[in-house]
Formats: sequence, structure tokens, C-alpha cells
Amino acid sequence: MTKQFPIDKFRTLETPFYYYDAQLLRETLSTIKEESGKYDRYCVHYAVKANANPKVLTIIRESGLGADCVSGGEIKAAIKAGFPANKIVYAGVGKTDWEINLGLEHDIFCFNVESVPELEIINELAAAQNKIARVAFRINPDVGAHTHANITTGLAENKFGISMQDMDHVIDLVETMKNVKFVGLHFHIGSQILDMGDFIALCNRINELQEKLYSRQIIVEHINVGGGLGIDYSHPDRQAIPDFKAYFETYHKHLRLRPQQTLHFELGRAVVGQCGSLITKVIYVKQGTNKQFAIVDGGMTDLIRPALYQAYHKIENLTSEEAVETYDVVGPICESSDVFGKAIDLNKVKRGDLIGIRSAGAYGEIMASSYNCRALPKGYTSDDFI
Ligand code: LLP
Repeated sequence: MTKQFPIDKFRTLETPFYYYDAQLLRETLSTIKEESGKYDRYCVHYAVKANANPKVLTIIRESGLGADCVSGGEIKAAIKAGFPANKIVYAGVGKTDWEINLGLEHDIFCFNVESVPELEIINELAAAQNKIARVAFRINPDVGAHTHANITTGLAENKFGISMQDMDHVIDLVETMKNVKFVGLHFHIGSQILDMGDFIALCNRINELQEKLYSRQIIVEHINVGGGLGIDYSHPDRQAIPDFKAYFETYHKHLRLRPQQTLHFELGRAVVGQCGSLITKVIYVKQGTNKQFAIVDGGMTDLIRPALYQAYHKIENLTSEEAVETYDVVGPICESSDVFGKAIDLNKVKRGDLIGIRSAGAYGEIMASSYNCRALPKGYTSDDFI
């Protein structure tokens, strides 16, 4: 069944804007709680980078998830939304001094460290604050993921993490440092992963590493496997809540945790992706030589994924039931790549129609820019219309 949108409300708002279905978000969150809660010491963090809209963040915080941050700005946004600092993990290859200091001041749960120079600076800054920072090493597991090349992160050629060969050295080093405490290992192989086999490959790699560490009598308290679970962009309504049962079960079956180890997840897209749509209005229908264009008021500045990754988002005409015609749906930005979709079948389009670009809750609003001096899109949740 196709989703029903509050069209009358939409007509009163200035377009383009993001619309978040708060009920779907809450149902998604309770499924995550239920499925992860089946296993002892599974701890889920929300990857703030996917969407930091304050209303969305608040709903996620209310569900009890922790926060995965990749910048000082995200730490501030998470704290402002009420996430407890002891549930914040902080990753990123280029943490600056003020960002590390911010994490230390708030006493965040853990820094996911990606290089030796970074470890040294965290130790130094923690000493200056007279604190001991908890650190996990982000290990690059050299596991490929079957996803878009721009969003795989776990290969040796990527900039992320510490290589498996360097791990022993880093562990030796951390033991000589007074103001950092080594508490865990962190991994992340990529995003929009739908093949559970990729996660199984990660589990196998972590099992090998754990064996290696065990032979040195090292058992870390925390294993963090990152995020990456994908969503169905082709059918946003078919399985609006991703298969969290299969996801957590995969880790339960394939990852050998030692007693007392906690397993952390950092999910972004799977939490918020399907609850958001970009709502945009048709400005003109233009006849081209061999095709017709639906020119809308939203553009790549509002949702960059199609232009940047050739990503597919389902497009629907929310205000027409007339016979279907074929259109290229394009934005107003002065770039040829400002195209949401080519040869898209839509119910006949006329000026003023509202178009919904679906599955845009993750990496949509947060990646918006003001190129062409455009205003940033606003975001509403269904709670705003009650
Ligand atoms: N943890 C780490 C260390 C990450 O780098 C990421 C995403 C996540 C967790 C969350 O991954 P998720 O569960 O959302 O797949 N802008 C791109 C996606 C970039 C993902 C970056 N890292 C897109 O629009 O597809």
C-alpha cells in the first residue's frame, strides 16, 4: 500500500521541505529495541550523521539509544537533544583539539581512535584536563562491502582506521600512556549493506582478531561493529522497517563474544531512512526534444544523493491520479547533475503538484547546502501537524 501523506497540511507550507513520519520512526525504534534486546549486552547507538534534525534526534533519544558522533558539532547536537554523555561514542579520522577537549569535558563514553598521532594527542589533552580518556581502536578489517564505492570504508585502501598489521604496535603503545585507557575495538565496513554475508565476513575477521589478542591475554570490554544496514529504496512502503531481526541474529550467530563483552552498533540509515521524504512542488512542465521535464523547486542542494552517488529515490506525484506519463524530474540548480530521476513514470504532472521523493530521512536534510544562495530546507515531523 502506498503511504498516505497529510496533503492539506503540505499545501499550507513553503516548499521544499522534509517530512518525517514520527510514528514510523517510533515503530522502527521499538523494533530495534525489541530485536537487540533479545541478546545480552547489545547496545545500539544512533549515527547522528544520518540526520541531526532536533525533533528527530529527540524522538531517537527518547527511545534510549546512545549516540555515535563524528564531530564536535554532532556531540553538541546530541547533548542538546538530551543524549547522556556516557552513551556517546566519537569517531573520525581528523578530530581537532577543541573537539577532543569537548569530548573530554563531557566525559563521553569512548573515543574511537583512528591513528597513532591521534592517540598521542588524546593522551596529551586528557593529561592537561587531568582525566583518563576511554579509547577504542578503529581497526580497518580490510573487508569489502557490496555497496557503492564512495560509501565502503573497511578496505585497506580507505583512509579510515588502523590497519590490522599495526594493531599490536598500537596496543603496546597505549599501555605506556597514562591518560588513556584501552577499552575496545571498533569497526565499520560501509553503508547501505543488504547482503548479510558482508556482516558475516566482518564477524569472522573480528573472531580472528580476538583470538590473536587472546593469545596476548588481552580481552577488551567493548566490541563496536559500526553500522551499515541498508534500506529498500525501490519499495519504501513494502518493508518500511528494515529486517533488524536478521541483522542482530547474524551477529549473534557469527560473532564470538567473550563473557562480559558488550557489543555496540552504530546504525544511521536503517533508523531514519524510510521515515523521511523530501516534499517539493512542480514549478514548470517543460517539453524537451525527446522528453518532458518536471521542473521542481527542490534541488541537489536539498537532497544531494542522486547527484553525488547516482542514488535511486522513488519519486511520486502526491497530488495527481491522472494517467501515467514519463518525465525527467529535475531541480532548479545551475548544474546538469541536478536531476532527481530520469525517465520516471508519474501520474500526469502539472504546475503546482506536490512531488514526494521517498526514503530521504537519512543523509538528506543533513547534507543540504546553500549553493546558489538557497535557503536550507525546513524539516517537519507528523507530530507538528497533530
Ligand atoms: N559508523 C561509522 C563509523 C560510519 O562511518 C557510519 C557512516 C555509520 C556508523 C553509520 O552508517 P549507516 O548505518 O548509516 O550505514 N552519505 C552517504 C552515507 C555515508 C555513510 C558514512 N558513514 C549516503 O548518503 O549514502
